[in-house]
Amino acid sequence: MATPTIPNGEEHFFNILYEGNGAGQRVGKFVPFTDNGTIDNSCIFNRADNATMTRTPSSAGTRTKFTVSVWVKLSSNFGTRRFIFYAAASGNNFSGIEISSNNRFRMYASDGSGSIDLDWSYNHPKDEPLLGIDEAPYPHEELDAWKNLSDEEKIEFDRHETAEVMSQFLHGEQGALLVASQLVSCAPTFNAKMYAASQTFDEARHVEVFNRYLQEKIGFHYPINPNLKALLDKILTDERWDLKFIGMQIIIEGLALAAFTNMKLSARDPLLKTLLHYVIRDEARHVTFGINYLEDFVKTLSPEEVEDRAQFAYEACVISRDRLINTKAMQKYLKMSDEEVREFQLGNGAMDQFRSFLFSRVMPNLKKIGLLTDSVRPKYEELGILEYEHAPSDFEIDWAEITKPLESSDQVKAESDAMLAEIVKAQEAANS
Ligand SMILES: [Fe+2]
Ligand SMILES: [Fe+2]
Repeated sequence: MATPTIPNGEEHFFNILYEGNGAGQRVGKFVPFTDNGTIDNSCIFNRADNATMTRTPSSAGTRTKFTVSVWVKLSSNFGTRRFIFYAAASGNNFSGIEISSNNRFRMYASDGSGSIDLDWSYNHPKDEPLLGIDEAPYPHEELDAWKNLSDEEKIEFDRHETAEVMSQFLHGEQGALLVASQLVSCAPTFNAKMYAASQTFDEARHVEVFNRYLQEKIGFHYPINPNLKALLDKILTDERWDLKFIGMQIIIEGLALAAFTNMKLSARDPLLKTLLHYVIRDEARHVTFGINYLEDFVKTLSPEEVEDRAQFAYEACVISRDRLINTKAMQKYLKMSDEEVREFQLGNGAMDQFRSFLFSRVMPNLKKIGLLTDSVRPKYEELGILEYEHAPSDFEIDWAEITKPLESSDQVKAESDAMLAEIVKAQEAANS
């Protein structure tokens, strides 16, 4: 390596000394970065350029030692993963030095598990709720029982509510993992088998991240909702592969997409928000494949067979509507009976709207694949969800959207805030 042409870096910078808190944190000749010039034979990396400087060590093992010195100047759009030095053994198996998303300077090592794009070192402040939207308080916040809780109890309730809902996500993901793995063997075509194999991997990752969040960040799980269990049992035990596809890809995943989106929008914890965003990207792909594949298949069925599938989809929707009622945390903290929570949730306009909104990701897809037959349409009308048949459908997601690089935590937050602002505006307009 050539001798540096700038032997004394500090002569080319402002001489301001940074010494941390003054208690022995100063390292070497600590010279700050300035915007006043660049130094010959040095590089500036802008995040937007995606530029990297790489070196592959020789097999002789003689080029495996480096001295790396860098100046890091953080800007607001730096994103979540801010690696300064990064050494990859293979794929997701790597170690490096980075500035984490909560601005910690740290050594980072990944064993190739689901950690690569999520900053698991982040811990949400213990006295702040994980969920909530300032502009649109939850209906239970109007209740005296909630208002009378101490600040500490409100936080406990927030953790339990989140855990109860997220545990259902986890149980659903475990079901999806099993169904996807069944489809590898029972789907009839090569393409469908290959697709199911990739989905199996996705679902395993989802199980891992939800379970990890519940274990490490909240500390407890809730048992499976009996309605969700009944639906999963039905899908897992039915021998017809296309029913598995309809039940899982269209109904369960369609609802999950809407429920995950809802939690993502209201998440105050940036780790939770980003985690949900990444899972949503996968689920959108699953739903899209399901629609495209089933649309062609349903056309090959006899009218009786189509009717049979349409009826199954309707029944799955009815069960799913009930599974959206979670009562345990409210029973415990708001001192209500199971029946009272049900009544509150069913009789509450905002929550009813929310439950129906979840079907906005299901109805257009059922229509697209031909399962909104004349015999089931009045039944959906009765449930109050037929109107969603004209909502935007997931089959419109294009390839570029599905394959674009993962967004940073900051990008996820900005996008989520913009989406939320639009929803709040639309609701205000509807109410005025
Ligand atoms: Fe999933
Ligand atoms: Fe999925």
